[in-house]
Amino acid sequence: MSHQAGQATDRLSATLDAHGPVVLPALLLCDYGHLAREVERLEAAGAKALHLDVMDGRFVPQLTYGPVVVEAVRRAAKVPIETHLMIEEPEAAIETYAKLGTDILTVHIEALDNPRATLETIASLGSRAHLAISPNTPVEALEPWLGSCDGVLVMGVEPGYGGQKFIPSALDKLAWLVAARSRMNASFRLGLDGGIAPDTIGPVAAAGAELIVAGSAVMRASDYGRAIADLEALARAAA
Ligand code: DX5
Ligand code: ZN
Repeated sequence: MSHQAGQATDRLSATLDAHGPVVLPALLLCDYGHLAREVERLEAAGAKALHLDVMDGRFVPQLTYGPVVVEAVRRAAKVPIETHLMIEEPEAAIETYAKLGTDILTVHIEALDNPRATLETIASLGSRAHLAISPNTPVEALEPWLGSCDGVLVMGVEPGYGGQKFIPSALDKLAWLVAARSRMNASFRLGLDGGIAPDTIGPVAAAGAELIVAGSAVMRASDYGRAIADLEALARAAA
């Protein structure tokens, strides 16, 4: 495989350290008839990474796509991709998604029987292992795994659909995670997914999120470049 997942995420990490938070467009609301063109447009618009929402119609009501589409995006994209698995029994799928070149593989804590084994498997396959947490799950549920994951993705909406309203308790989760990270001397990255708009991205960045996923705020804009630049400017001003 020519794409080196570890090197790509190292470059993304360097960008975060040098320039502050980045916006990851979520392709959920993209034009699926022109997938490669959408990837090109988003990269030309300045996207430094892309977010892919895999939904199985069971863990969440909606059904989106699986490895075939993720692989097509992987082939089309030069930037790192984060695959957000909203599926039951993610353990059975992680090898497939890691092996096709997913840079960041994000699995829900609610769906895991054995988080430690899952995180170790993802790492051994060369992807970064991130844990996602839904709005109704107490953030303390993540505590035992914070030393072994590469990142946490706090959900700002109930997973399942784009275009929902931001749930403010996500800000408390971010604050708790920032405090836990320094208390534990851990080094995981913090992300936020769902409900990002010009009025929510500032508070989210101020609370510590660096990998900020934006679906409708980018994909429903006529000018992707303007949308990403404006959101990143608001995030960096607040961070
Ligand atoms: C929600 C998905 C999100 C979604 C975000 O279940 O995980 O990634 O695409 O969409 P917005 O930014 O519109 O809330
Ligand atoms: Zn997502």
